[in-house]
Amino acid sequence: MNAQDFKENYPQFQAPQQGQGLFISFEGIEGSGKSTQIQILSQYLNEQGYQTSVLREPGGTIFGEKLRDAILSSKESLSALAEAHLFASARAQLLHEKIIPKLKDPKNVILLDRYIDSSFAYQGVARGLGINEILRIHHTYPLCLFPHTTFYLAISPEDSLKRQEARGQERDYFESEKFQFTQKLFEGFEKCSEVFNQRIVKIDGNQTREDVSKQIKKTLSNRNLTP
Ligand SMILES: Nc1ncnc2c1ncn2[C@@H]1O[C@H](COP(=O)(O)OP(=O)(O)OP(=O)(O)O)[C@@H](O)[C@H]1O
Ligand SMILES: [Mg+2]
Repeated sequence: MNAQDFKENYPQFQAPQQGQGLFISFEGIEGSGKSTQIQILSQYLNEQGYQTSVLREPGGTIFGEKLRDAILSSKESLSALAEAHLFASARAQLLHEKIIPKLKDPKNVILLDRYIDSSFAYQGVARGLGINEILRIHHTYPLCLFPHTTFYLAISPEDSLKRQEARGQERDYFESEKFQFTQKLFEGFEKCSEVFNQRIVKIDGNQTREDVSKQIKKTLSNRNLTP
């Protein structure tokens, strides 16, 4: 799969049309700074008069949070296909319940902590289902709704582990997988940033929090998405 194949074969994957709310997602391996940057951007946009909704995947709805707990606390391994469909179910519910209604008001901004690129990276690349299979699972509206812009915060697998250790967090289902898995995830996100190069903006996550944030705000302004 490359950018040209995607453009030719999957025309239904589109961002919300103009005049609707803004839809932004944040992606990257564990510890890359997604939550940190979402918090900074949310505050900035609120000061600009926007109404932000911070949502996380999987979860964001009562059904989704239950599914999140079930998946992340699972000690037995699920098949890649089962995982892909579980995440897609939670996503369909989140779109139906929270995202689509909010998009009707152009003053609303949805900030999503992980979205479809995590499915491409985790189940598509790291677990081997392939990006085409993930696209196939998402081909029906509203699952084929793409964000206006996706910020991919890029850090190395080594730095990801260092940041996780520094946080001293308990390892969940995905984090207890081997370092090799983090490497595959990293490759997955890198691949996404090539295939979806118009939507995804790759930012060096090793810069200071302030510099990452400046780049995010500048991109939104350059794309005429915010002032
Ligand atoms: N630019 C940065 N430079 C150094 N440390 C950072 C930077 N951004 C975030 N951190 C720190 O790295 C850790 C991980 O950041 P954060 O929780 O924002 O990442 P995340 O991508 O949301 O991780 P997860 O996928 O596990 O939710 C935190 O301790 C945070 O304070
Ligand atoms: Mg986070």
